[in-house]
Amino acid sequence: MSVPAAAKTVGKFITLEGGEGAGKSTQIARLASALKAVGMDCVQTREPGGAPGAEEIRRLLVEGPVDRWQPMSEVLLHNAARIEHLEATVKPALVAGAWVVCDRFFDSTLAYQGYGHGLDASAIANLHWLLYKDFKPDLTLVLDLELEEGLKRAEGRAGAEDRYERMGKDFHERLRRGFLEIANAEPGRCAVIDADGDEKTVHERIMTVVRERLPFH
Ligand code: TMP
Repeated sequence: MSVPAAAKTVGKFITLEGGEGAGKSTQIARLASALKAVGMDCVQTREPGGAPGAEEIRRLLVEGPVDRWQPMSEVLLHNAARIEHLEATVKPALVAGAWVVCDRFFDSTLAYQGYGHGLDASAIANLHWLLYKDFKPDLTLVLDLELEEGLKRAEGRAGAEDRYERMGKDFHERLRRGFLEIANAEPGRCAVIDADGDEKTVHERIMTVVRERLPFH
């Protein structure tokens, strides 16, 4: 489904960002449950993925050899997946009045492909402007965690989707710094969440920020 450019979005769009093993998947599920528990219509989704075509592109990105793509090809593949996801899932849900909580969005492209792979940040930002204009999340929560702890947690996860996890410590250090710089540059949209601690503690930190920034009850 294509949403007309003029369609007004009425729901809220919340994104979770952060490095490997920061606990985004767990926390996004808890956030969605908390919103649903107070009767809100909430759609939980993820990038890359969240729509049939985007899930197919996801496999090309998260599996296989570390060096299978040129960095700019990765930018284009992530954005191709994003366009499918936005048109098929995110925008229709927002237009219908739902709140959409999304595991990663365009800040991940700036952090991973920009800071991580060393591509020019302004080229990525220009591409995002070309593709999305001023469409952006209402709130972005950056889950921040010490590198060692995050990579240790990520190692414990099963599965073949570990292409980015295998990119080396320097890469992960650069992207942690990238996420913090992105949050610092846009304090009105972003909030940094200390992801050290048990699941419940981190969830409470998240809910405090969500209630402050987007009062819903
Ligand atoms: P996930 O493991 O959080 O589901 O995300 C899949 C991987 O894709 C993760 O390692 C980060 C990476 N990624 C990028 O490199 N650029 C992007 O734009 C997005 C959305 C994800």
